[in-house]
Amino acid sequence: MAKVLVTRRIPEAGLELLRAHFEVILNEADRALTRAELLEAVRDVDGVLCLLTDRIDAEVMAAAARARGFANHAVGFDNIDLAEATRRRLPVANTPGVLTDATAEMAWTLLFAVARRIVESDGEMRAGRWGGWGPLQFIGGDVTGRTLGVIGAGRIGQAVALKSRGFEMPVLYADEHPNETLERALGARRVSLDELLGQADFVSVHVPLTPATRHLIDARALGLMKRTAYLINTSRGPVVDEAALVRALRAGTIAGAGLDVYEDEPRMAEGLAGLANAVLAPHTGSATVTARDNMALKAARNLIAMVAGERAPDCLNPEVYGPC
Ligand code: DGY
Repeated sequence: MAKVLVTRRIPEAGLELLRAHFEVILNEADRALTRAELLEAVRDVDGVLCLLTDRIDAEVMAAAARARGFANHAVGFDNIDLAEATRRRLPVANTPGVLTDATAEMAWTLLFAVARRIVESDGEMRAGRWGGWGPLQFIGGDVTGRTLGVIGAGRIGQAVALKSRGFEMPVLYADEHPNETLERALGARRVSLDELLGQADFVSVHVPLTPATRHLIDARALGLMKRTAYLINTSRGPVVDEAALVRALRAGTIAGAGLDVYEDEPRMAEGLAGLANAVLAPHTGSATVTARDNMALKAARNLIAMVAGERAPDCLNPEVYGPC
């Protein structure tokens, strides 16, 4: 029976499916494998179901000499050296589609939480400091009718924009490609990044992490935003220069930020945790029952196909299979 490695416990639905096909080697500890543990664990398996916290690079691929592919339990795959995998003719797959709504909902959760100062006011309540209603307490930002700016209008960016309908928000988006769905459904306007940053009241980031998007939102970009605007990031931490963001939040050159992702997870930039105008979630954008079950199932199906030498449904480098 073929043997696969699951680098950390995933929802049971995925494990069950894998166990029906393979001997499953599971990291039972509820933590990511250390680098040394990962290098050792991949040595003797026919395939690997990995997580966004596992760095899958040339060294790991070389150690995984028998593996027939890597199935990432995430839609983002910046943790995997895809070019190196392709060079080695190793298929890599991700889990697109099944976490779109969950992640878009998280962007909206953060947007409302930061605009309406929910974490700050919750803290006040729990501390027993609230003395009753007052006309000047916890005044926040308006949402209805304000401009939403979406950076990256792929699956998740599009879902975030479409969910703005009830709030009658003009929508701007910045993307290499026009998004006809957004233009037709919302009258959304495709603009340059700088124009979006200068006009949006809420800037929501939805680009993958690549060399081109690392620090896309840097001090200059933050400087273009309105003092009353909020930044929401549910994509990847390094897309935002976190130290520059802390400076902007501290100086009040933007109104607030809602973050689900960080530049150097699980660490946060110095000073971020002390800022009242930041709402901080622990990279839980896809953490709903349905999304996580479906991610586990998708990753398992990808791995089953890879080990069988078949094209994985969500293969990111189909060229490894040769010409069709
Ligand atoms: C992803 O899938 O890339 C998210 O960041 C985690 O679910």
